[in-house]
Amino acid sequence: MTFNNLLLETHEGVATITINRPTKLNALNKETIAELHSAFKLADENTETRVILITGTGEKAFVAGADISEFAHFNVDQGAALAAKGQELLFDFVENLQTPVIAAVNGFALGGGLELAMACHFRVASTNAKMGLPEVSLGVIPGYGGTQRLPQLVGKGRAMEMIMTAGMINAEQALHYGLVNHVVEQDTLLEFCEGIAQKIMKNSPVAIGKAIAVINAGYKANVNGYASEIEAFGACFGTDDFKEGTTAFLEKRKAQFNK
Ligand code: COA
Repeated sequence: MTFNNLLLETHEGVATITINRPTKLNALNKETIAELHSAFKLADENTETRVILITGTGEKAFVAGADISEFAHFNVDQGAALAAKGQELLFDFVENLQTPVIAAVNGFALGGGLELAMACHFRVASTNAKMGLPEVSLGVIPGYGGTQRLPQLVGKGRAMEMIMTAGMINAEQALHYGLVNHVVEQDTLLEFCEGIAQKIMKNSPVAIGKAIAVINAGYKANVNGYASEIEAFGACFGTDDFKEGTTAFLEKRKAQFNK
């Protein structure tokens, strides 16, 4: 499958999605969001793919936000529909994938760009990365989950300050806040993320998928995370991966898991 706004490459179990609109600093227009949905779905359904990386083309930007030129003329209903559709197609979709998704934040991650990185399961930044939710400077608020996920990741007070000031934080500050897990030089960013992916791939994809779902359950209203954990824990005992993992341990060999 070919895309107009992104590249999808799979190598040794890692699918890398590269958003490719360099002249617009990889801003997310409607077509890019639809293509990202398809690319994530393809990668998730591919039995060869054990980890998904998402990054931006070039050395300047991960994603500089939602494409402002597309929504500048929207009315109230169109604004609400933009947020609802985007959340459904991309941001909630990514967060709830069973295949682990790592954001390799290679530069500006602003507005929808930071929201996309935050919807991923965790983030690694390059030293030049700059992150922020500048929406209030445009007279709107974050609409792709930013008001919810930023406080979950950095705490309410820091999220309030970042959103109210519309300012950017650098990679070091993002690391200090816990918004990103690691900061590395830009030319080693993908290699570093692939190294983490290799460690993830040694483990049971079924168990990892369940762990993602249960961790997310704890952040959902009206869902009891502990009860979800008990149910998913029990379900693991009925899987081939559990048989393989425990048998391999007792036989003192490495487990072989397939997706
Ligand atoms: N939507 C649409 N186009 C965008 C964009 C966005 N979010 N972010 C950048 N672009 C476009 C610019 O309009 C420009 O296009 P042009 O060359 O056709 O005029 C191109 O990308 C390069 O951006 P430019 O602003 O010239 O680069 P810069 O180095 O001077 O500044 C930023 C970089 C990231 C600080 C600046 O582009 C910016 O503030 N972007 C908007 C960030 C934002 O508010 N995002 C939240 C949206 S909800």
